[in-house]
Amino acid sequence: MITENVKIAHISDLHFSGKQDRRQLADFDYLLDYFNQANVDHLIISGDLSNNADSSDWRLVKEKLECHGLYIWEKCTIIAGNHDVINLEEEMRFYNALNPLSLLRKIACERRIREFCLFFQELISGNTAGNKGFPFIKIINFPSLKIAFTALNSVYPWYPADNPLGARGLIAESQLNALSNERVLSSLRDSFVIGLCHHAYKVYGTDSLIDKAFDWTMELKNREPFLAVMKLMQAKLVLHGHFHRFQSYTVDGVTFINGGSFRYEPKCYSELLVSTTGSFVQKFVTLP
Ligand SMILES: [Fe+2]
Ligand SMILES: [Fe+2]
Repeated sequence: MITENVKIAHISDLHFSGKQDRRQLADFDYLLDYFNQANVDHLIISGDLSNNADSSDWRLVKEKLECHGLYIWEKCTIIAGNHDVINLEEEMRFYNALNPLSLLRKIACERRIREFCLFFQELISGNTAGNKGFPFIKIINFPSLKIAFTALNSVYPWYPADNPLGARGLIAESQLNALSNERVLSSLRDSFVIGLCHHAYKVYGTDSLIDKAFDWTMELKNREPFLAVMKLMQAKLVLHGHFHRFQSYTVDGVTFINGGSFRYEPKCYSELLVSTTGSFVQKFVTLP
């Protein structure tokens, strides 16, 4: 019987902004090298690859992963963050004046998310010619156990009153319904289920009113229905980013891990060891 743990590395919020930041690119090389030396089985990147919704930043990430032999369906899973989809300055200056209809803004946001999924299609469906999008489930047969990575999109369009910074999240009901389907649930029964989404279940601030006002702009609007679906899927873990802090917390038996921000702490990541029995150990690692 194979008893080896599956080792998962989780990073988030890279916020690349072009090739000129050589320091950040070198840091990324260093981290990916480390993952290979440490025999990481799978890498999760939970959104905000780009700082300004620029697809050339997605390309930078893809090229680096390819260089390190990690741009492979079995080795890596990537989801989108609000900074991959929404260019706040453009929205405020341009779209609000010329495209004031919220429905059109929603359509534009969905189009951008589709572009993201097509760009990273190989990591979603294992096939460059595919057209799969959110939600998606990857069931990977590791030698010691099966893990089902269940990825949801939580990016919500920019609206002046309801989402003034473009940083509030919402998981569409259609995604939650798709994952609640009995056929989907039965396909997960012999897997260890890990949920993935960009937004945090909890945004930890302080009790000050100013911080609370800020928390509101970052929150996941429908976190309770999301948690209910994670429980229905028997997910023990949810990995997220968005709120740039390394932290872990448990809600109703589901452990949430925030993968912090590679942009601000490039030598830190979250490491997860999942055993054949379905128990797991998580720690935040700081590289030398
Ligand atoms: Fe971020
Ligand atoms: Fe974010």
